Parts: sequence; structure tokens; C-alpha cells
Amino acid sequence: MTFDTIIRGGTVATASDTFSCDVGIKTGKIAALGADLGEAAEIVDATGMLVLPGGIDSHVHISQPSGPGIVMADDFASATRSAAFGGNTMVLPFAMQQKGESLREVVKDYHKKADGQCYVDVSFHLIIADASERVLGQELPALVNDGYTSFKVFMTYEGLALSDMEMLNVMTVARETGALVMVHAENYDAIRFLTDRLERAGKTETKYHGTSRPIAVEREATHRAISLAEIIDVPIMIVHVSNRQAMEEIARARRRGLKIYGETCPQYLVLTEKDMDGLNMEGAKYVCSPPPRDKESQVACWEGLQQGIFSLFSSDHCPFRYDDPQGKLNPKGRTSFRWVPNGIPGVETRLPILFSEGVGKGRISLNEFVALTATNHAKTYGLYPKKGTIAVGTDADIAIWDPNRKETISQSLMHGNTDYTPYEGIEVTGWPVSTMVRGKFVVRDGKLVGKLGGGDYVSREKSKLAVP
Ligand code: URP
Ligand code: ZN
Ligand code: ZN
Ligand code: ZN
Repeated sequence: MTFDTIIRGGTVATASDTFSCDVGIKTGKIAALGADLGEAAEIVDATGMLVLPGGIDSHVHISQPSGPGIVMADDFASATRSAAFGGNTMVLPFAMQQKGESLREVVKDYHKKADGQCYVDVSFHLIIADASERVLGQELPALVNDGYTSFKVFMTYEGLALSDMEMLNVMTVARETGALVMVHAENYDAIRFLTDRLERAGKTETKYHGTSRPIAVEREATHRAISLAEIIDVPIMIVHVSNRQAMEEIARARRRGLKIYGETCPQYLVLTEKDMDGLNMEGAKYVCSPPPRDKESQVACWEGLQQGIFSLFSSDHCPFRYDDPQGKLNPKGRTSFRWVPNGIPGVETRLPILFSEGVGKGRISLNEFVALTATNHAKTYGLYPKKGTIAVGTDADIAIWDPNRKETISQSLMHGNTDYTPYEGIEVTGWPVSTMVRGKFVVRDGKLVGKLGGGDYVSREKSKLAVP
């Protein structure tokens, strides 16, 4: 066979193995693995490089409505460009419903925003804000069958928080349709109570964001979400877990035989609440929910990754500009942490941070890195084995890494639309230099070569992990 491309001389790693071999690519798929593959229209020299499955970031927010006067920094073009430079070949943003909206219309709107605007492949989770009979009885089951096989529910946030009754109803639909529920677990009333009390005491600086949603808020909601899932007998994914106590709720549920999955994110490994202390609102750069905690929580999150309590490592990329009246420093945001939009950018830095802090420092193996950043995302969200691994027959979604390249993370290296990175100054070893989606380079040797619209929408199967 003559291949379109052969990636030659690299070290290939999957979630289970590491081996030296060449990768033969034909019509967007991996067609052969081995030595001496023969002819190709193009030979890519990967000597000294790692050849990894492209990262799949299954938790990103793009072009999401974020409240009056607030605008997300990234649209699909800038977010997927940034993703590609960060070694990712696919992202899973949310199509967010607001109360009263038709889910079907919401999905159509997101397709309008994304179609022809992506550099890497995309698929959508749904966010269910309106758990009415109309939505849960008809629209949601139909959408699951159409390939939108996962949805997120929120236990907090004005306009998004669902009651326990609504959570139970959503989980029932998930059980009946085979979809996977993602849960944002924080106690809404407790956060409102604490926020009001802090404001009455004049404690409005960004450092009080963390005080307004302490660990107990997250632990309690995690416990409650798990209990509700147990009552319905349905697997759930607890997203963005920030600390040991919430993690232990998941571990305990697992020991009791429940299918409760967990995700953590870079902010819980390398940031702390101290970052929100910054003077002159600098702390706003780190405001996200759940908030970064303390050093002990970082240790706990590493243990969760090592022990498999967390099967996913996602960015929770939720980009707002900092010095911008539509971003972190919006006029109301300057008056109280309450009005600082929650969320931080991270789609481009997720992989280098985990690679350097995890693989480089001996906390996880290269194969665990691949599992946590690509393979498990594909398995969890109905994309495997088309995506998430390097094997004959899979999509040729590949990131080529220089494992020895040293970089200091800095905004000047980023390719999204935010004006800062919360990871400024972190030194890493290991960097994705080229990214290929379905056999075509999007980023090559640090340069954008893909065309806008080269990324496709991908319809998903039901997750095997969602089976009750
Ligand atoms: O603060 C965060 N994480 N914002 C993004 C929305 C979410 O809850 O994931
Ligand atoms: Zn579309
Ligand atoms: Zn969330
Ligand atoms: Zn999120």
C-alpha cells in the first residue's frame, strides 16, 4: 500500500503500551503500525519525538452565554485553534440551555456557531437548565438518540441550579436512554448564604470567592448527587473535583459498587486559593468554581489521578478576558467577587502541565497520561475506538511531542482570545509541537497550517460506562 503519510521514527504511546514504530496513515485513518511500512506521499520524521493520541478535552466552554454584559473570550475558531496548539484533536463543549428554551433549538444554535469554525473535531454535551416535562419527556430522549449522549446538570448557579427532584427526573431520563449525566456538585443555598454574609461584612475582594464556597459545600453536594444517582441506579460523572473530601465521597461510593466517576482539572493541581488574593483584582484571574484550594488538596487530586478515582483530566476551559469590561473586570465585577464571571482558560495548557508535573516528575506513567487525557475521554463519552487511541482503523488524530523541550508558560505563547493565562510562569518540560486531525496537520512545528473548518462535528455513541 502507498500511504498518504508515514510518521517515522517516533515512540508511540497508548493507554496501555509504549513502543517504537512508524505510523502509516491513509484517508484520515491509521492504516498500519510497524517498521518499514514502505511508500508514502509524505514522510514525517519523528525521531526523538513521542507520537501520542491527540488530546480530547471533554470539558470546555465555548461561546456560552454568561450573564448580562459578559462575553466569553473564545468562539469556536479561537478555542479550537488554542486546543490544537495544546496538543488536542477534539474538544467537547456544552450546548447550554437556558430556562424556557427548547433544547433542540439550543443545539441548532450551537451548530450554527461551530459549523465551519473549528480547527479540531467537536461534539456537544448538553446543559439541562429546564427540567420540565416537555424537555425531559420528548426533546432530551430524542437528542440522546441523535448522538448527544451526555448532559451536565448544575446544583448551583442562578438560573441553572436544579432541585433534587429535578436531578432525580434528569437521572431517570439518563437511565432510560443510556446517557451519561455530568454533575457540577456545589450547594447553591450554602453559597448564597455565605456570599450574602460576606458582602454584609464588606468582604467583597476576590479572595473571598473561595470563602464563599468552602470544601464542605462541594463535599455535601457530591454526597447528595451520589445518593440521588444511587436511588435511580444510574452512573454519573462528578466533574471538576477540587479536594480530598469530595474525592473520598467518590471513592467510598465506588467501594460500595456504584458507578460513580470523577474528573479533576489543572487548576486543582497547580493553583491554590492564595492565587485569588492578588491585589487590584488580580485575583479575578483565578476565580473559578469550585475554587482552587490548598496544597493538601493538590496532593489529594494527584492521588485521585494515580489511584484511578479520577478517570478524566480536563481543562474546564471557560475563558474570559481579564482587563475587559465584558470579562473579569466588568463594572460590577470590580465591586464584588459575586459578579466576577467564574471560569479560567486552560485548553492549551492542560496537556503540558500534566505531562511535565505528572510524567516528568514521576507521578504518573506516560500511559496513564494518555489514558487521562485522551483514551478515557473517548471511552467515557461514546467515541472509542474511533477516537482516543493509536491503532489500525482509528482516526489519525495524533499529537507529536518533544518530550525534552522546556518552556515557561506565558500568555505570549497562547493562541486563544483571552488576555492572560492563569498558569503564567510555570516551567514545563515536554511540549506538543505538531497536531494532526484525521491525518491532516492542523499545527505543524509550532505553526498553524490547518484550515478553519477542518474540524468536524462528531456524533457520539452511547457510553458503555453509562450502563446502570
Ligand atoms: O468556574 C467554572 N468552572 N466555570 C465554568 C462552568 C462550570 O461550572 O464548569
Ligand atoms: Zn454542526
Ligand atoms: Zn461546572
Ligand atoms: Zn465547566
